[in-house]
Formats: sequence, structure tokens, C-alpha cells
Amino acid sequence: MARILISDKVKAEKLARINTQSVRQRRIIQARDGVIVKCDGKELVNFSSNDYLGLSQHLDVVSALQESAAYHGVGSTGSALVCGYHQEHASLEKETAEWLGYEKALYFGSGYLANLAVMQSLLGAGDVCVQDKLNHACLLDGARLAYCELKRYPHADVSAALRQLTSHRDGAAMLATDSVFSMDGDMAPLRDLVLLTRTQDAMLYVDDAHGIGVLGPEGRGSVAAAKLTSKEVPLLVLPMGKAFGGQGAILCGSEAIIGHISETARPYLFSTAPPPAMAAAMRASLKLIRSEPWRRAKLASLIARFRRAGMRHGLPLHDSQTAIQPIMLGNNEKALKIAKSLEIQGYLVTAIRPPTVPDGQARLRVTLTALHTEEQVDGLIKALAFALEDSRRLPENHAEA
Ligand SMILES: Cc1ncc(COP(=O)(O)O)c(C=O)c1O
Repeated sequence: MARILISDKVKAEKLARINTQSVRQRRIIQARDGVIVKCDGKELVNFSSNDYLGLSQHLDVVSALQESAAYHGVGSTGSALVCGYHQEHASLEKETAEWLGYEKALYFGSGYLANLAVMQSLLGAGDVCVQDKLNHACLLDGARLAYCELKRYPHADVSAALRQLTSHRDGAAMLATDSVFSMDGDMAPLRDLVLLTRTQDAMLYVDDAHGIGVLGPEGRGSVAAAKLTSKEVPLLVLPMGKAFGGQGAILCGSEAIIGHISETARPYLFSTAPPPAMAAAMRASLKLIRSEPWRRAKLASLIARFRRAGMRHGLPLHDSQTAIQPIMLGNNEKALKIAKSLEIQGYLVTAIRPPTVPDGQARLRVTLTALHTEEQVDGLIKALAFALEDSRRLPENHAEA
């Protein structure tokens, strides 16, 4: 095989993305006030953010961050095992572990990093990691980094998961799943997966990025919503860029497992610890999550309203009861066209295309938050109905014209 220049490889790949309409561009958010964002000089109602409870600009959360930064500075100044582990990190870990009934917790700079760390620290060659096909990319990447055997089962298919586990009898086994699937909004069959992993001596690992704060009593997430505890779900990760409105991720587990990960996971050891001020902000978010149930109640009522109105208008809704409400469109061009029409009508709803979702399953990922109003939700439904109707009338290449 002949050497090829990386610059030529890049050009060829860009061309392939242009041909399949999967070029992605970052949009600059010039200003933000709750769900109103300014983009290209135009104010839009944002239906794409994961700030499910509206905490990212809450005064208590912002002041906790500012105050802590004023005392401790911005950076943590080192990795956790060197000198980057501060009191705010320790307090956040302790409070979260106690809240959810786990022995111990560990704060990472991001959910992605936490998932890489878990797999790389607990699995290796000869072990198996069984995963739902629709798991978030970082769970899949984590298994690849661990050099274990990665086996994927069709979405939410517990019998297939059992077959995958029984087909690999040697070594350690982990079954990893999103609790709420990030692009589909539906929920994993957690109770069945608990039974399955128990009978197969496998560890169940749950990523509750889109459930924590939003679901269950006191916002304790998908595990509590399914009436499960740390006994049945021994390892749980809580990315904090969603309902917590911040950054980082808390991993919860037993003292022995968390201790092992904190001593051996390369993504933890060889990365600067997150800013202590962010940990302080996340402690403030945790207080609000626990003490302000109205945010969850409001979100639940907006989800019900969106689905009722969506069904009335015949929108292609997905079977999701959570804040993630995908509008399934199929091809990339159609998804881009509808997103563009929504933007003209004053709404930001990003088109999601492969490789984020499987080929032929492009969609709009509508996300609802406690800060939206009923009028904004009604307005989005009307705009969607109009855009879908319009797309049937316009020529196929209109969006790119
Ligand atoms: C299920 C899931 N896990 C992990 C992550 C990654 O978390 P982070 O954004 O903190 O890296 C995300 C989203 O970004 C997610 O949806």
C-alpha cells in the first residue's frame, strides 16, 4: 500500500461529507438568556440544549462558581493525585454519594473522560463489555480503549444481551448502558438488565446523563425511578453538563471500585483535575435539584403538552416520555431543510445526522426544559407542522440552495 498525504486524506473525507450532506458546522452563540439565544445576530428560542432544569444560569450556581474562583483561582493546578484535588471536589463527591446511597464517588472533568476511565481501569484483554447499540459514543470508545471484546446488542433487546454475555464465558464481564438514550429519549429496561447481569456475574454500569436531576424522586435519576438502588446498579456515572447545568461527571460506586479507578485509570491520572469552582457550582446545582421539585413538574407538563399537540398535528414523534423528543425524518437533506425552516421561524433545533445516529435515521432532536413556556412549546409545534408541510411542496435541494 502506498503512503498517502494526510492533507489529501482530509480533502477526500471532506468531499465525502459534502456528498452525503453530513458537513457539520459550529454555530456561535453570541448571547444567551435562558432559552433565548442570539445566533448570527438573530434571537431564537433554543430547543436544542441539555439544560433540562434551567440551572446553568441560576444565580446560586453562578455565584457559587464566582465565589469559589475568587478564593481558589480558576485552575486546579494539577491532576488529582498530584495537587489538583481540592476540598470542593471532595465535598461534591461526598454529598452526591450520600444523596444516592453509594459508598464513594469520584469527580471527573467530563462524562466522556469518566467513561473512558471506567472501562480502561476495570476491563482488559480477555474481558468482555456488552453494550446497547444506541449507547453514547464515549461508552463504545471506552471499551475500545480497554482492549476488551466489545459486543453490541440490538437496542433494548435483553435476550440478545443475554446471548452476548453467555457467548463469552471467560474473563470479567460488564454490561454498560445509557439509562435515557441521548438521541432517542427512550429508556433502557434497567430492571431486566439487573436480573440479567446478576445471573451472569457481570457488572452493570449505567450512564444516567439524561436522567439524573430530571427523573425519580428528588431527581435521583433513572435508577431511583426504576426503584433500584446501589445494590442493583453498582456503578453509575452522572455527567453534569445536562440537568446540573455545568461540567464534569460524578462516578458513584463501592469504596473498592472507586478507589481502584482513582488509582489506575489513565484518563483520571493523566488529566488536570477540573476547576474547584466548577465543583462548587455543581454543589449549588445539587441543592436546587433536591429542593425545587417544581422544575421537574413543569418539565413533565411541557413534555406531555408537546406530545399531545405533536400527535394532534401528526408529527413523526418517537416513543419517548423524556425531555428528549426526536422528530424522525430519515434523510439528511430533509432534516437540514426542516431545521432551516424552523430557524427562519425563530427556533433553534439542530439537525442530527450520521454518524451521531445510524444511517437513514436523521432527525431533529427537540429538547424541552423547565424554562420553556407553554406558548413557546405551542409555537414550536406549529412551526414544525408548517415546516413539514412546506418540505413536501419544495424541491429536494432547496435547503442547500
Ligand atoms: C449518555 C451520555 N454519556 C456521556 C456523555 C458525555 O458527557 P460529557 O459531555 O460530560 O463529556 C453524554 C453527552 O455528552 C451523554 O449523552
